[in-house]
Amino acid sequence: MKFFIDTASLDQIQEAQDLGILDGVTTNPSLMAKEGISGKDNILRHYAKICEITDGDVSAEVIATDFQGILEEGQVLADIAPNIVVKVPMIKEGIKAIRWFADNGIKTNCTLVFSPGQAILAAKAGATYISPFLGRVDDITWDGIALVRQIAEIYAIQGYDTEILAASIRNAKHIVDSALAGADIVTAPLDSIMGLLKHPLTDIGLEKFIADYQKSNPQ
Ligand code: G3P
Repeated sequence: MKFFIDTASLDQIQEAQDLGILDGVTTNPSLMAKEGISGKDNILRHYAKICEITDGDVSAEVIATDFQGILEEGQVLADIAPNIVVKVPMIKEGIKAIRWFADNGIKTNCTLVFSPGQAILAAKAGATYISPFLGRVDDITWDGIALVRQIAEIYAIQGYDTEILAASIRNAKHIVDSALAGADIVTAPLDSIMGLLKHPLTDIGLEKFIADYQKSNPQ
């Protein structure tokens, strides 16, 4: 399973890159706003900076919701760098645009996916990635991981090439469960990724190793 980081923070992207585990980045308009990035030119420049940190795929989301607008915005985004993936919402005009991008060699990430039916439609349209938002499904007491598992099963049965990018990750357990459910990629905030490091027995064990070394190697 590949690891993407779900943020627009250059510092956090750099930290994940330095850790040596980063395969790509996802952003959305809310994450850009959180970093205080606004205005078309600034947003495009920010994507370019992200693409300087990683050569993994970087999802950049369109704001337009009409077919022509999505195409125009998507082409501007795709021109920023070869690793830009155009993030398109799961709406009728978005599906038409995903088909156009696929036919014209532009990678897409179909976002705001909440059902297996939507995942089938996006795969049929030729999406490179689909993003089921499993945390938001859990938020309304449904089962986000079950959604990822169902999509993975359908894609395996049907032989779809679209990759499942488990999104809206809230904690380290979501990452582990996504791996078990058959996600191809997980996109997570840095603190959820770092949560994978934690185990009290690791801390206790390391403390004892160091104490034993110091006892037998007095200074
Ligand atoms: O990748 C999608 C993600 O950014 C949404 O996460 O936490 O806003 O549901 P969240």
